[in-house]
Order: sequence, then structure tokens, then C-alpha cells
Amino acid sequence: MRSLLFVPADSPRKLEKAVTSGADALIVDLEDSVALENKAPARQSAAGFVKEALAAKPRPYILVRVNGLATGLTDADLDAVTPARPDAIMLPKAEGGTSVVHADAKLAVREALNDLPDGHIKVLPIATETAVSLFVAGTFAGASARLIGLTWGAEDLSAELGAHANRDPQGRFLDPYRLARALCLAGAAAAQVPAIDTVFVDFRDEQGFRRECEDALRDGFTGKMAIHPAQVPIINEVFTPNAEALARAQAIVDAFAKNPGAGVVGIGGVMYDRPHLARAVRLLERRIEPAS
Ligand code: COA
Ligand code: MG
Repeated sequence: MRSLLFVPADSPRKLEKAVTSGADALIVDLEDSVALENKAPARQSAAGFVKEALAAKPRPYILVRVNGLATGLTDADLDAVTPARPDAIMLPKAEGGTSVVHADAKLAVREALNDLPDGHIKVLPIATETAVSLFVAGTFAGASARLIGLTWGAEDLSAELGAHANRDPQGRFLDPYRLARALCLAGAAAAQVPAIDTVFVDFRDEQGFRRECEDALRDGFTGKMAIHPAQVPIINEVFTPNAEALARAQAIVDAFAKNPGAGVVGIGGVMYDRPHLARAVRLLERRIEPAS
């Protein structure tokens, strides 16, 4: 999944636009972009939209961002959207594997009540939105088979830390948020799931956005969240492995296949060992797009 576009659940116009945005996934938002007094109608709108979106072919992967476990709103969110069978929920303000275990139990009950197979609805946590979450970012491994990735957030974290800014004047994340970003990457790798980069809120700054996509790809993220449709094609372009990278990866895989048992091979005067093989295999896997 390269691009995941946030869409406020209480905006029919944006929901409609999102479908043709080209995003691999849509995140129908019941949390921060929906005011408290609009939560109830937003739930109904989200459920209606999810049902409709799932019927389309081809269709994007559909997630619903519910409200965090500490808000007291999560149960009503799940009651409303589970019958619509979203592919996944996004769990904001997650605090390590225990949050996922908690969400897993809530989902299991509702799946049973709605005659859905156990484990049908997956979970994508936002792993770095609270101070506590940073200290448990390495605990997602094995929490639940529902876990499909990890992502991170800087906005709520900066509010919690009491910071005046989370980026420098050039638009680069400051140290506490670079730490959160790195913990997301390491936490995802430890849990053997993809890491998805956070949002870039300055949606008119195309150059800054592209740079952040390229930095994320370089560091190991496999996709990025978007808040505006204009960001989607840039994400898709940057995170689609190009022909040259695919050919190099295939050459590494082929060289190891020809030399079973070899720990290291040479191709074109360059050494490749097992970590290179693992990276090549992962890159080739990304050639297959999840949207169906
Ligand atoms: N999904 C789908 N469509 C969107 C969209 C989104 N996230 N963001 C904007 N659009 C649509 C607008 O409705 C508009 O369509 P229209 O001209 O047919 O009405 C078009 O794209 C251009 O939008 P633009 O005028 O450039 O921006 P805006 O001022 O309407 O919206 C935001 C700006 C930030 C309010 C909007 O992008 C948004 O709501 N983003 C998502 C916010 C969110 O979910 N945040 C939570 C996660 S951090
Ligand atoms: Mg938030």
C-alpha cells in the first residue's frame, strides 16, 4: 500500500472525490477531522460510504479511523462501522501491542455479532502519538494477526510534549519527531509489518512533500499517508519501484537462486550478501499492488 488518503467521514463531497483520487487506500476519518457534535452522523455516513466503496471494482483498500481507546467513543464507532465490513480500522493514539490486543478483542466480539469471519477486520495503529507510546513502540510483534503495518504521527505528540513547533523553518521534523519516526520504522520491522510515513499538512508545498516522500522511501517506509488528493500521485510515483530497481533486485534473486547455499555473490563487480537478498525479495513483492 503506497498511498493512504484521509477523508473526513462527515464530508460527502470529499468522500465522493476520494474514490477517484487514485489512492491505494482511503482512511475514512471519525477522529480528529470530525467535531465531537458530528460524531454520530459521521458514523452513519462512514458506514454508508464503506458499504458503497466495497462494491466498486476495482476499489481502494478501505480503513476507518476510529477514536482512540481512551476517548470512550471507540465502541460506538465500531458498532456503527463493523456491519459495513471495512478492510481495516486505523487505531490512533495506540500505546504498543496491548492497545492492539484490546482493539482485537473489541473487533472479535463485533465480528461474531455480525457474522463476519474472525480476524476479517485488520488494524493499522498510529504508534507514536503519546509520550507513553514512544516507550512501547517495540511491543507490537505478535500482538495480533490483525496487524497490517505501523504508522506514526507528530501532531498529537507535539501537543502532548508541549512543543511550539514540530518542524524547523525549512519544514524538516525536529528531534523528538525524528525519534518518533525512527521508532515507528524499527517497531514495524520488529513486528515484520510495513511502516507507513506520516502526513505532510502543508498541502500546497509540492516540493517539500516530494522531498519527504523520497526521504521516507530511502529510510524504509513503503508508503505515506495523504490529507489532500493532490498528494496521492506524488506518493504513488515515489513509492512505485522503478524498472531499474526491479531489474537489480531480480538479478540479486537470480544470482542467489543459481548458487543455492551461497552466503554472498558478486554481480557487476559489487558484493551482495543475505541482507541484500532479503531487501531484493521485499522490493519484488511490492510490485504487486494491493488494490483489487
Ligand atoms: N479527500 C477527498 N477530497 C478532498 C480532500 C480529501 N482529503 N481534501 C480536499 N478535497 C477536495 C475538496 O473537496 C475540493 O473539491 P471541490 O473543489 O470539488 O470541492 C478539492 O479536493 C480541492 O480542495 P482544496 O480547495 O485544495 O482544499 P480544501 O480547502 O477544500 O481542503 C483540507 C483542505 C485540509 C480541509 C482538506 O484537504 C481535508 O479535509 N483533508 C483531510 C483532513 C483530515 O482528514 N485530517 C485528519 C488526518 S491528519
Ligand atoms: Mg491526531
